Amino acid sequence: MTSPSAASHQGSLLTLPVTETVLCEREPLAEPQSGAGAQGSIVRVTLNRPDKLNAINPQLIADLNTVIDALCMDSSVACMILTGAGDKAFAAGADIAAMLPMRADEGRAFSAFGQRVFTRLETVPFAVIGAVNGFALGGGCELALACDFLYASDKAKFGQPEVTLGVIPGFGGTQRLSRRIGIARARELCFTGSVFGADEALRLGIVNAVTPHAELLTRVSHVAKTIASKGRLAVAQCKRVLRTGSDVPLDIANEIETQAFGVLFGTDDRAEGMKAFIEKRPPVFTGT
Ligand code: COA
Repeated sequence: MTSPSAASHQGSLLTLPVTETVLCEREPLAEPQSGAGAQGSIVRVTLNRPDKLNAINPQLIADLNTVIDALCMDSSVACMILTGAGDKAFAAGADIAAMLPMRADEGRAFSAFGQRVFTRLETVPFAVIGAVNGFALGGGCELALACDFLYASDKAKFGQPEVTLGVIPGFGGTQRLSRRIGIARARELCFTGSVFGADEALRLGIVNAVTPHAELLTRVSHVAKTIASKGRLAVAQCKRVLRTGSDVPLDIANEIETQAFGVLFGTDDRAEGMKAFIEKRPPVFTGT
């Protein structure tokens, strides 16, 4: 499925995988310009089952895993944008038709597989921005919550309606939602299965910004380009420290930060970033 053949551009630019249910394409790099040249690559990953509103079946999770594997092998990747194909959905949930015949042990395995793959989005060494272009329900909302941060179209709809089907969120949703918005609000949303719009998601802190529907990908791409113009080792360490530090006491979290700060002092990018500032020129980062 994946055939990484080498090419070179600021690192090892590999051929992206072709999978059945997840599209993967590289966004064009901006020309370096004063102070803000995009230097890492940006990859748009699109959940691609539009006739089923991108419902998440085992194949889609496996394909997403394949894509993540490939992106982790490509040291040029600075940012991944995750969105849904079609005009209606990011993902309208775990695939109900696929879940209907599952026995208890199969349901448990499906949950564990989804959790494992979604959690990888939090641990990959590049930024992951979710562009929520429509329904993000159930597993779709859980997948969105596993992204580093979210922008939403003004047509987006969020919710954890699993109780309507006699189950609960199983891809990490109970835990990520309560950590994101507080346990009482998460309880209310999960117990009622309410579906809510982008403005409410913004108010709750689920999304960072709401854009007109047609502008979503342009706006997200712009943010991705800004991230890609920075030192990607620094962004990767920042991501790691923010995550690992969030669930431990402050003094331990600060120690994790100090260690990462020290690691970055040993990199070419740190030397280049500071030298470029002193020389009053844009930095040219290499990711080393
Ligand atoms: N699992 C499997 N198939 C799904 C799906 C899901 N979670 N969500 C949508 N689909 C399928 C529909 O079955 C339909 O397929 P069909 O054309 O073969 O019948 C297709 O996607 C389009 O969905 P449809 O319901 O016709 O679109 P709509 O605009 O009328 O309604 C929703 C959109 C999102 C409100 C509705 O599809 C829905 O409620 N989906 C389930 C949401 C959910 O409970 N998610 C949590 C799952 S744990």
